[in-house]
Amino acid sequence: MRKYIIAGNWKMNKNLSEAIQLVSDLKNELAGKTLNADVIIAPPFVNLETVNSLIKDSVIKLAAQNMHFADSGAFTGEISAQMLKSVGCEYVILGHSERRTIFGETDEMINKKVHQAFANNITPILCCGESLEERENGKAFEIIEGQIKAGLKDLETTQIGNMIIAYEPIWAIGTGKTASPEQAQEIHAFIRKLLTELSNEETANNITIQYGGSVKPNNAKELLSQPDIDGALVGGACLKADSFRDIVLSV
Ligand code: PGA
Repeated sequence: MRKYIIAGNWKMNKNLSEAIQLVSDLKNELAGKTLNADVIIAPPFVNLETVNSLIKDSVIKLAAQNMHFADSGAFTGEISAQMLKSVGCEYVILGHSERRTIFGETDEMINKKVHQAFANNITPILCCGESLEERENGKAFEIIEGQIKAGLKDLETTQIGNMIIAYEPIWAIGTGKTASPEQAQEIHAFIRKLLTELSNEETANNITIQYGGSVKPNNAKELLSQPDIDGALVGGACLKADSFRDIVLSV
């Protein structure tokens, strides 16, 4: 059975005291509620340890927004999988479009990171998505197929079955322009078919495929009711506890 998973990507927002406030608010907002989705938050690196200690008595799980693919060494400014594990991260977002476009991450680097995450018992949330230009040129499927095949290269079927995939059309991220539920479903169904080819039908049917890109309380329900949309990767709307709560409660 696949699970609904709602993840909040804080991006480069919230200093330590703001992070403490947001997590406390979120815990209060979710307390006593019946949840049909797993809840993950991905604060900036410097807040992970504190946030981890605050969520210990809650349902909230911890993710990092990125990591390096090497074990350790001379990589100034980078963070390793083992470091993330040591502060309680169970998940890591990999290949976010901001990492790909602003920081030049390639499919090859992202694939190494995916392997490194598994080697350290961290579940990767692998992001994929096309730009507006690629969509307008009819290239969305081709781009997504390329990113997924490259990201999953040389993985075992059981590893593929333990990943989370996030489809995030770049043109919908932070723009207020969401993909329509039909547009998102079309890509999600395509991704699941691709995952079937890369693993098998049973494995692919159990993989959570999140949608991301301007998910808000007022559009979450419709998106999440699509048959192949199993969760959301939320940016802007996760920075306020009440709006993130509403998205979590929309499944
Ligand atoms: P957004 O970001 O919800 O602000 O569009 C989503 C993301 O980039 O993960």
